[in-house]
Amino acid sequence: MREELLSPDHSIEDEEIDIELDALGLRPTSLEDFIGQPELKEHLAIILGAARKRNQPSDHLLFAGPPGLGKTTLANIVAREMQVAIHTTSGPALERAGDLAAILTKLEPGDVLFIDEIHRLSRAVEEVLYPAMEDFQLDIVLGKGPAARSVRLTIAPFTLVGATTRTGLITGPLRDRFGLVARMDYYDSEDLNIIILRSANIFDVEIDEAGSKEIAIRSRGTPRIANRLLRRVRDYAEIKADGVIDEKTAVEGLKLFGVDERGLDKVDRAILRAICERFDGGPVGLSTLAISVTEPTETVEDVYEPFLIQQGFIMRTPRGRVATGASWKHLGLTPPETKSLTSPNLLSQLND
Ligand SMILES: Nc1ncnc2c1ncn2[C@@H]1O[C@H](COP(=O)(O)OP(=O)(O)OP(=O)(O)O)[C@@H](O)[C@H]1O
Ligand SMILES: [Mg+2]
Repeated sequence: MREELLSPDHSIEDEEIDIELDALGLRPTSLEDFIGQPELKEHLAIILGAARKRNQPSDHLLFAGPPGLGKTTLANIVAREMQVAIHTTSGPALERAGDLAAILTKLEPGDVLFIDEIHRLSRAVEEVLYPAMEDFQLDIVLGKGPAARSVRLTIAPFTLVGATTRTGLITGPLRDRFGLVARMDYYDSEDLNIIILRSANIFDVEIDEAGSKEIAIRSRGTPRIANRLLRRVRDYAEIKADGVIDEKTAVEGLKLFGVDERGLDKVDRAILRAICERFDGGPVGLSTLAISVTEPTETVEDVYEPFLIQQGFIMRTPRGRVATGASWKHLGLTPPETKSLTSPNLLSQLND
C-alpha cells in the first residue's frame, strides 16, 4: 500500500494533485472562486481594489499558515486580479544577494514577486530586500576589495507576496515592511464540503452530499488534504462501489487508508500515543517527540502539531508538549489523573 504517501506533508502526490487540478482548471483563479477565508478575502478585495483605482501596485502581502491552506493559490490570484505577471521563487532558492538582484531587475512595473518559504531567506538576501520593498531601490556592490563600490539602482515598483508556514521565524524588520500580514485559518467543514463538491465535479466523480461531508470533516481543515482524500475515496469507490461516492464508501474508504473520524492519520495517532503512553502524557520536548515517531522535527512542528493543538489534543507548555484529556479519550486510554483520583489511596489523602 502507498503508506508513505499518507503523510499530510506536501508530498509528491500533492504536487500531482495540484498539477491535475491546474490542468483541469480547478485551482481557483479569482478571489470570487476562492472558497472560505471570508475575512482575508474581504481585506484583499479592498487592498487590491484601492491599488487598482490608484493605478499603483498593491502593498506587499504576507500569507502565513500551515501547509495546503491556499497561500500559493492566493499569490497567483493577486497577480491575476491585478492583471500583472507573477515571478515565483522561494527562500532557499535565493542563495546569494545576486540571485535576488537578478530577479528584481527583471520585474516590469506592477509585477508580483512571490517568495515562498520566505522565512528561509538568508540574512544577506533579506537585506537586499528591505530597500527594494521600501523605496524600490537596489544596492549592488561592484568589484571586490578596496576598489569595491556600491551602486544604487531604481527598480520597477512591484508587489512582494511572501508565504510562510512559520510566522515566528520572520524577522521583525521584514514583517514590518508588509502592508498586510494575513494569518490563514483552518477551513470549517462547510467550506471544505464546497471545495470537495467543486473538485469532484471537475474530476468528474459522482458524489452525494453525505459522502462529501464525511470527507470534509476528516480533511484536517485543509483544502489540499480534502482533495487528496477525495482522490483516495474515488479510487476506493471505483473498485468497490461502481465509482459512486456516498457516505458508506467515504467512511469505508477513509478507514481503509487509516484516516479516522477526526481526520487524524497514522502519524497523528502515533504522536498522541507517544505522548500518552511513552511519556505519561507529557510534558515532552519537541525533538524527543519527533524522534520517537521518526519524523523530522520541522514536520512535526509545521504539519502535525498545529492541527492537533487547534483540535485540543495537545498543548504547548514551556516544558514541552502535553496530551489533553481529549487525546486519551480519542485513543481509548484512561488518563493518569482520573486513575489517581479514583484510587482509594489518593482519595483518602484528599479527605485528610
Ligand atoms: N480556498 C480554496 N478553494 C479551493 N481550493 C483551494 C483553496 N485553497 C487551496 N486550494 C487547493 O488546495 C491545494 C493547496 O493549495 P496551495 O498550494 O495554494 O497551498 P499552500 O498554502 O501554498 O501550501 P504550502 O504551504 O504547502 O505551499 C491546491 O490544489 C489548491 O487548488
Ligand atoms: Mg505553496
